[in-house]
Amino acid sequence: MPELKLPFIGHGGDYNPDQWLDRPDILEEDIRLMKLAGCNLMSVGIFAWSALEPEEGHFTFDWLADTLDRLHGAGISVFLATPSGARPAWMSRRYPEVLRVREDGGRNLHGGRHNHCFTSPAYRAFVGRINRALAERFGRHPAVVGWHISNEYSGECHCELCQQAFRRFLKARYGTLDALNHAWWTGFWSKRYTDWDQLHSPSAIGETSIHGLNLAWKRFVTHQTVDFIRAEIAPLRELTPDLPVTTNLMEMFGGLDYRAVADALDFASFDSYPKWGHGDGEQTALGAAFNYDWMRALKQRPFALMESTPSQVNWHDVCKLKKPGMHMLSSLQAVAHGADTVQYFQWRKSRGAAEKFHGAVVDHAGHEHTRTFRDVQAVGALLPKLKDVLGAMPDSKAAILFDAENRWALADCQGPRRDMRHDGTVLAHYRALKRRGIDLDIIDQTRDLDRYRLVAAPMLYLLRPGVAERLSAFVAGGGTLVCTCPTGRVDADDLCFLGGFPGPLRQLLGIWIEETDALWDDERNGLRTRDGKTYACDALCDLIHTEGAQTLATYTDDFYAGRACVTVNRFGKGRAYYIATCPDADYLDDFYRMLVSELCITPVVSNLPTGVQATRRGDIAFVMNFAGAPVEVALPEGTDLLNGEKTGGPATLPVNGFRIIRIRTKREDKQYA
Ligand code: GLA
Ligand code: ZN
Repeated sequence: MPELKLPFIGHGGDYNPDQWLDRPDILEEDIRLMKLAGCNLMSVGIFAWSALEPEEGHFTFDWLADTLDRLHGAGISVFLATPSGARPAWMSRRYPEVLRVREDGGRNLHGGRHNHCFTSPAYRAFVGRINRALAERFGRHPAVVGWHISNEYSGECHCELCQQAFRRFLKARYGTLDALNHAWWTGFWSKRYTDWDQLHSPSAIGETSIHGLNLAWKRFVTHQTVDFIRAEIAPLRELTPDLPVTTNLMEMFGGLDYRAVADALDFASFDSYPKWGHGDGEQTALGAAFNYDWMRALKQRPFALMESTPSQVNWHDVCKLKKPGMHMLSSLQAVAHGADTVQYFQWRKSRGAAEKFHGAVVDHAGHEHTRTFRDVQAVGALLPKLKDVLGAMPDSKAAILFDAENRWALADCQGPRRDMRHDGTVLAHYRALKRRGIDLDIIDQTRDLDRYRLVAAPMLYLLRPGVAERLSAFVAGGGTLVCTCPTGRVDADDLCFLGGFPGPLRQLLGIWIEETDALWDDERNGLRTRDGKTYACDALCDLIHTEGAQTLATYTDDFYAGRACVTVNRFGKGRAYYIATCPDADYLDDFYRMLVSELCITPVVSNLPTGVQATRRGDIAFVMNFAGAPVEVALPEGTDLLNGEKTGGPATLPVNGFRIIRIRTKREDKQYA
């Protein structure tokens, strides 16, 4: 598979000259401004179908040829897009099967974007034809360095073609209706299926009560989307085998299993729109970092920051401007976590329609004399100095499990709380680990664990096949595992494990979970550690029996006061912890401080102040202040990459300040000795 290998850190954004074809002056001016802003990489052709094929079979590619030539002439490279994210109206009118059908059975009208059926042979044929034509004409254009497939794949279609494909998918998975009926527990409420044709996607006006069906449908939506993606890519691979392929992925998106999507791509790319300036800066920065650690770990390779806004979005409830310094800091944060590009949505503000007030490098004013343009220019001037991070990765010794199938099952779970708080819990564990100043990977249940010393698996409710065995082998070999309530409840078909929770993890964790209490939103219990410290906990409280595990903390309240709520079990050469409730941030901070130090996981920076993040790529460290106030921080020993000063010891980072440091290597250490 070809890799993304840029000779520079990419800088640029979505560029839509097709909206300005009647303004050659603007198209010329774009090039001048791109050079002025230090841009070297544009994504071209996203949503451009009606400009590329205004009538069926009539291709008008000359404007794109001119655009690529113009960009190339200015030394600017291109991610060339396939246009499948939105269709021209003629297609929907003549071939209505391309339009999505909703779960209520009604077919959508033409409109919006992403409004197509992934199964429709007609749609696949149109996409295949235009992709082939684009690859034939532009696949060897010297400006083109990669393919940007479609845009933010999402959504589902319930049409008859999709129902048939779903049934084929189910037959391949289950083989027989008996197996399916058993896996979905269809004896409940008289749901037994006796003919494959009776099977239908879940729908609010039909079936939603079979959890196995709901889960199978989610898997199918991923399967069918990935099948469509592969079909999109096929002509590109055939004609341009050396060009890497990506599609842009979204923040915390749960509609698709991104693990499976990433397998179809050569590199991951990501659209990042954190709510800078809304409330707690640390929390916003953590959310962004989590997504970056996820994107990088998807392929265990650097990713592209395909979109971000240089100023504000137009779709948050309140769209704050980036305060001075935030554009630089937020762009560097992506690079610090593994991005090899900093790109924007969008280069130039569109004049009309839905996104006319979305931030862009070039404002409606049309010139470079804006705060936003100067912010972008500053990033463009700095990125070439970071060239040494290209391709470099952190050496993460800790990982958090974040798994699409587990999320789907927990979201569908009825009881013991309506909101099981999966994502919030994962982020709470992420925060506690990130505050330790260590590098982290976000991985799903299918990934190899060998490289890690510590794996946190918050709310590992659903166990995919083989996961219990792999976690057990990881701990037996010396790894440390942290599980939390509710763990080990259901198998991959959402059937409960029999014989006591946490099912196949019972021996590994050395506990039996007999019952689980749910707490009201304003209700708290407490946990008391063996040295007498107490902390609050909420949401869920497992009542457990230890079966070999040691008790580290007990509940303080309710009829189960005094019973174990945090345990550790020695297993082979490693240890498996169980946190039976949702403890407050102070507990998680203390818990992971102890673990990270015991496991000798070296932080990039020790004793990080709240709101400061530190990461490492190769031998380059990034220290970034999101606290919203100046902070003092102990910098790693090395050389400041930007000003050449020696670093080590305390330094003050101003608001939105950062330092980028080439860490002193062992070889240099010898010279110092
Ligand atoms: C997404 C899309 C873009 C644009 C931006 C606006 O990321 O990919 O086309 O709509 O959102 O923030
Ligand atoms: Zn369909």
